[in-house]
Amino acid sequence: MEANASADEYEHTVADVMYVVNNIPGPGIDVADFEAEYVVGCSCVTECYNCSCTRGSANYSNDRIVHEKLTGPVFECHARCKCGPNCGNRLVQNGPLNCLLIREVANKGLGLFTNKLIKKGQFICEYAGEVIGLQEARRRIEINKERNTMNYVLVVSEHADDRVTVTCIDPKYFGNIGRYANHSCDPNSILVPVRVEGIVPRLCLFASRDIENAEEVTFDYAGGAMVNSVHCLSDTPCLCGSNNCYRYLPHNQI
Ligand SMILES: C[S@@+](CC[C@H](N)C(=O)[O-])C[C@H]1O[C@@H](n2cnc3c(N)ncnc32)[C@H](O)[C@@H]1O
Ligand SMILES: [Zn+2]
Ligand SMILES: [Zn+2]
Ligand SMILES: [Zn+2]
Repeated sequence: MEANASADEYEHTVADVMYVVNNIPGPGIDVADFEAEYVVGCSCVTECYNCSCTRGSANYSNDRIVHEKLTGPVFECHARCKCGPNCGNRLVQNGPLNCLLIREVANKGLGLFTNKLIKKGQFICEYAGEVIGLQEARRRIEINKERNTMNYVLVVSEHADDRVTVTCIDPKYFGNIGRYANHSCDPNSILVPVRVEGIVPRLCLFASRDIENAEEVTFDYAGGAMVNSVHCLSDTPCLCGSNNCYRYLPHNQI
C-alpha cells in the first residue's frame, strides 16, 4: 500500500508483538473503507505549495518541520499525485526517525527514547497498530482494566466543520515503535492526525520542543493541539513526575 514503508527498519524483539510499519484494519473497521485510496491527486510538476493536497498553506517547512499553527487536517501527497518523492508535502510516509530506541523506565515498563537531538517540529514516528471500531476499543479498554494490564488503545477525536471523526488505534498485538511512547502531563511531543493514502489518519508524533539526546519521548494521551482534549482520567496513577501532573493517566472521551 505504501511505497516508503521500508524506511521503518527497527528490529523488534518484544515477544507476542507483531511489528507493523503501518496501521492495519482490525475488528469494527470496514476493510473497504480502510483500503479506499484517494481517486485523484494533485497535478503539481515538482513541488507542492498551494495545491489540492496542501489546501492553501504548506504543512511542513523546507527543513521538514511541521507548521506550528496548523489550521486544519494534514493531507500528504500520495501515489496518485504527479509530484515526485522529493515533494515537501511527503514526510510521515517516509517512516520514523532512525535515532529511536526502547529502554526500561522505572515503574512504567518500556519507554521510547532518542539517541540524538530531535528539533522542535520534527516528525518522530507514527503510533501505528490495529485500527478498531469504537465499540471494540471500549471492550479492549475494559478488559485491560479488569486484568490490570497495560492499555495501548488510543482514541482520537477530530473536530472539523461540525463533524467529529473518531479514530481508535490499538498497537498492543500489532504495532510499531510508537507503541512504547509513554504519557506525560508535560510532554515533549504532540500527536497530529495525518492522512496519506486514504481516509484513516495516521497518528503522528511531532516534537513540541527540542528533545535532547537520551531523553524519553512522551506525549499527552488525552490529545493536543489538533485533537479533542476533553480529559477523562483512568484509574492508573500517572508517574510522569511533572509539576502539573493529572495524577492519573488521561484519555479522550470514549
Ligand atoms: C502505550 S503503552 C506505553 C508503553 C509501555 N510502557 C510498555 O512497556 O510497553 C501505555 C501503558 O504504559 C504505561 N504508562 C504510560 N505512561 C505512563 C505514566 N505516565 N505513568 C505510569 N504508567 C504509564 C501504562 O501502563 C499504560 O497503560
Ligand atoms: Zn506533492
Ligand atoms: Zn501538489
Ligand atoms: Zn502525569
